[in-house]
Amino acid sequence: MPPRTSASGVGSAAATGATPEGALDERGAAVAVQAMFNSIAPRYDIVNHVLSVNIDRLWWWRTARRFRDVLADPDAAILDICCGTGDMTMALLKHRSPGARPVIAADFAREMLARGARKFTGPFSQHGCAIALEADALHLPLRGESLDLITTAFGFRNLANYRHGLKEFHRVLKPGAQVGILDFSEPEGLLGKLYQIYFRRVLPHIGKLIGGKDSAYNYLPASVSKFPPPAEMLEMMREAGFLKVRWTPYTFGIAGLFTGVRGPIESALTSSNQN
Ligand SMILES: C[S@@+](CC[C@H](N)C(=O)[O-])C[C@H]1O[C@@H](n2cnc3c(N)ncnc32)[C@H](O)[C@@H]1O
Repeated sequence: MPPRTSASGVGSAAATGATPEGALDERGAAVAVQAMFNSIAPRYDIVNHVLSVNIDRLWWWRTARRFRDVLADPDAAILDICCGTGDMTMALLKHRSPGARPVIAADFAREMLARGARKFTGPFSQHGCAIALEADALHLPLRGESLDLITTAFGFRNLANYRHGLKEFHRVLKPGAQVGILDFSEPEGLLGKLYQIYFRRVLPHIGKLIGGKDSAYNYLPASVSKFPPPAEMLEMMREAGFLKVRWTPYTFGIAGLFTGVRGPIESALTSSNQN
C-alpha cells in the first residue's frame, strides 16, 4: 500500500515531520520510511533488543500499565498504530481479557506487520487478541469518534507530518478518549552527552553489524534529534485539541510517554491554555 500525501494535500518540504535522507516532500518521506522498515523487518526485533539492552520491554510495559483502566474494559476500542512487529500491542494485550474486543494493530509496512501478526496468534497471545491492519497513520480507515485509546510506540517520530498525525488521532478518538505516544527523546546534561555519543557514533555501527543496513541506523539518531522536544510536542498536542497533555520521561528521559485526552472539536482551536 503506497502512502498518500498528507490530509491537507500539502507536499511541502517544510520541517513538519520525518525527513529521511533524499526525501524531497512528505510523500517522498513516507515512501522512504515505509521502504526502510520493510527492508529491516527480518532483523528488526533482534537489533532493537540489542541496541536498547532490552529496556524497550520496560518502556512498552510501562506504557501499557499507564492505560490499564481502559484496557480492562472489554468493550474498549483500541488502536496501536505504527505497531511494527507488535511488541507494544503484545504489552497491551496482557491487560485484556479473553473475549475482549480485539485490539487493532496497524502499520503501513507490510513486512513489519506480518511479523506482528504472527505474534498475535502465537503461544504468548493467551490474554486478549489483536487484528493486524495495513493502514497509514495519516489516513486511518476508521470512523470518526470511534476509538477509546490510541497508542503508538516509536512510530510517531517517523510520520511525514506530526500535526496531521495528531489531527488524524483526534478525528478517530471519542471525546474524552486517550492517546499515548511513546518515543525517544534527547536527555540533557552529562548523561545527554554520553547518550549522544552512544546514539550517534556507536549505535549506527552495531545496527549495521547486526541488521546489515547502515542507512536505517543512521536515520534513527537523525530522526530523534529532529523530533520536537517535549515542550514543543505538548504544544502541538494542545493545538490539535488534546487536553491534560503530559510527558512522562522514562529512563532519565532517553524515552518518554506523551499522554493526552481528546477534547471536543472546538478544543482544537481553544485548548492552548487548558492543560
Ligand atoms: C520503529 S518502528 C516501531 C514499531 C513498534 N511500535 C515498536 O515499538 O517496536 C516504527 C513503525 O512505524 C511505522 N510507520 C511509520 N510511519 C507510518 C505511517 N504513516 N503509517 C503507519 N505506520 C507507520 C513503520 O512502518 C514502523 O513499523
